[in-house]
Amino acid sequence: MNILLLGSGGREHALAWKIAASPLVTKLWCAPGNAGIAREAECVPLDIANHAAVIDFCRTNAVDFVVVGPETPLAAGIVDDLASAGIRAFGPSKQASRLEGSKGFTKALCTEFGIPTGAYGRFTNAADALAYVRAQGAPIVVKADGLAAGKGVVVAQTLREAEDAIAMMFDGAFGAAGAEVVIEEFLSGREISFFALSDGDTAIALASAQDHKRVFDHDQGPNTGGMGAYSPTPFVTPEIHAEIMAKIILPTVAGMKARGTPFRGVLYAGVMLTPAGPKLFEYNVRFGDPECQVLMLRMMSDIVPAMLASCDGQLKNFDLRWFPDAALTVVMAASGYPGEYAKGTRIEGLEDAASVEGVEIFHAGTVSKDGHILANGGRVLNVCASGNSVSEAQRRAYEAVDRIRWPEGFCRRDIGWQAVDWERKGS
Ligand SMILES: Nc1ncnc2c1ncn2[C@@H]1O[C@H](COP(=O)(O)OP(=O)(O)O)[C@@H](O)[C@H]1O
Ligand SMILES: [Mg+2]
Repeated sequence: MNILLLGSGGREHALAWKIAASPLVTKLWCAPGNAGIAREAECVPLDIANHAAVIDFCRTNAVDFVVVGPETPLAAGIVDDLASAGIRAFGPSKQASRLEGSKGFTKALCTEFGIPTGAYGRFTNAADALAYVRAQGAPIVVKADGLAAGKGVVVAQTLREAEDAIAMMFDGAFGAAGAEVVIEEFLSGREISFFALSDGDTAIALASAQDHKRVFDHDQGPNTGGMGAYSPTPFVTPEIHAEIMAKIILPTVAGMKARGTPFRGVLYAGVMLTPAGPKLFEYNVRFGDPECQVLMLRMMSDIVPAMLASCDGQLKNFDLRWFPDAALTVVMAASGYPGEYAKGTRIEGLEDAASVEGVEIFHAGTVSKDGHILANGGRVLNVCASGNSVSEAQRRAYEAVDRIRWPEGFCRRDIGWQAVDWERKGS
């Protein structure tokens, strides 16, 4: 089978690595890819926003199956356009991608189908939004409705911060994404990510993970795309796992089907483990980056039949096997990220780093030039490791990080701290 993977981040390198290991694959392309993905797939310089060009490539090269990594092409309807052209693709339709593309849409779905989430209001003007936050009080969470690259949420500790956030959003800070604002009850508890695979009718759980959004150690500094992750998280016990499937994931799949917009693909639930039980605060409609990297390290089964089953409505009775090991990934980013950073700096020591036991290095923003690997983005490398505990995976990942010579790069030194603390106390 010929497969085309779309995307260029660490998530897509991990997917390419996993897909390339499948005996079902004859040929794998990735558009546009990166220097690491080039080891697993043939990278092609396609503009993936140009759906006609993607369809044309598929026809010319007899592509049987397209795997979409990031959310932007999903929200733009690439899966629908490919389907219209008779090409199978993994990922949700444009309508089903609304689960990520509109926070208000997801909140309304929760209300309609009884899915546990924080109390909320939806607003299209500042005056009503201000009246609502003044009535509710702080802390409270202000969210731009649409896709805002992880920058559209303000967790306001004071009423003043909430008022400022409302003013900023209605002043057009996020363009059309902020034309509607969702204001949500502040949920306290531990935050986890839960991944499931759906075929429109049913869903199977993938795994749990914990991400690290802040740029600096001890969860300080501004939010980023994600500075590291580990899986599984000890905080998702078997009971909580079952509760999330029964009360959040399966009702969502049933609700989307009932509305005539079945969801096929990866359902990534952002869940707060509150004293009153797990509550959903957002959906993403694709793998997380960097959570995907640790999920791929842990997945024992071939991923290709699972993706095909999701696409074809055949997940019922499907079973995925996982390695019992934990996995952890440390993101190495260019100095200055998530603000301004330099491109083109040289990275050395990658082979030595990759030789540490259990280590796999996935590339994000890299290019290869004259035989050297150069940084070409904000988040540049994912140094991943598996181990018999999160602590062991963490030790291995940082041993590999310390072998990488890249003075212009940095990483957090405490990825996995919550689980490492737990393992220390629990054993
Ligand atoms: N209701 C809430 N209560 C407390 N914290 C929240 C709430 N909603 C979101 N957050 C925090 O804000 C972050 C970003 O919000 P999220 O809804 O995931 O938006 P996005 O990922 O699109 O930026 C979350 O990871 C979480 O830490
Ligand atoms: Mg989020």
